Amino acid sequence: MHPCVVVLVEKFSGGITKSNSRKGSLNRKLTVQQLFLGNGNSKESTNVFHEILCQLNDEKVGPPHFFVHSAGTGGTISSVGRYVKKYLIPTEVVLADSEFSIYYDYVVNQRFKREGGEPYWVSPGMAGTGFGYSGPAMHGKTTSLQPSVIDLAFKVPDLASTAAMHFLKKIGISGGTSTGLNFITALSLAAQRRTNSSNNDNDKLRIVVLLADSSTPYEDTYFNFSWISEKFHSHGGIPLLKCWERAIEHSYKHGGDPLKRGSLKCKRSFSDRYRRRHVPL
Ligand SMILES: Cc1ncc(COP(=O)(O)O)c(C=O)c1O
Repeated sequence: MHPCVVVLVEKFSGGITKSNSRKGSLNRKLTVQQLFLGNGNSKESTNVFHEILCQLNDEKVGPPHFFVHSAGTGGTISSVGRYVKKYLIPTEVVLADSEFSIYYDYVVNQRFKREGGEPYWVSPGMAGTGFGYSGPAMHGKTTSLQPSVIDLAFKVPDLASTAAMHFLKKIGISGGTSTGLNFITALSLAAQRRTNSSNNDNDKLRIVVLLADSSTPYEDTYFNFSWISEKFHSHGGIPLLKCWERAIEHSYKHGGDPLKRGSLKCKRSFSDRYRRRHVPL
């Protein structure tokens, strides 16, 4: 197991306190501890990150070093980013982007503000996440993703995210598309930023990712091998899905970056790609 804590938080666990009249009344000088010290501030926000800090605080653990999430509309991760910046919380906000989405380039390279990603989009993508087939990304108009509150971004092959969904299910965590994408990003980040292995939870690297929806809506698609064979045929199909799953399992058990390992080991051969392109099936 990784010498770090990866905490999967269910997005709408029912523990989020509804905001009341005190919303927005905190001033930026409050420390993280003060956010929870009985002055009514626990009701400050319906923000999911507030809930995360509450849960970690209950376990006497400080804020996470990283918060990892993918973007559909971009609303969730941007609201977390604004919260983190507003209260000067020492957490880096990390975007996990799907393979053919334009969000990575929108955030990192300020691209796709005027042009759309339609020419680059390849189906099926990771449902509910990414942006690629509906024109330019314009904050406040076509997307809620706010690049200024994102600290880091990762780009993940769709078959790798799908393999992560399968791996998680094997270890008893039934998550959907963004959960897979978030999880493999967190493993990669952990491998890159791992610190000393200590028994004290507060010394460990802490990465929080969201378990946004369950696996149930995806039983006929991302968990169905016939569907994967057909939809991810051009990505390498089942053999590469299995290869990615092995890379993830290796990373989970022994450390190491699953994205690095998978990109070395899970490549379609040139002849395979050539055959697919030139010989009609
Ligand atoms: C499964 C899943 N994960 C993540 C997201 C992203 O949330 P947001 O739209 O706030 O970016 C969505 C959006 O619908 C989703 O369906």
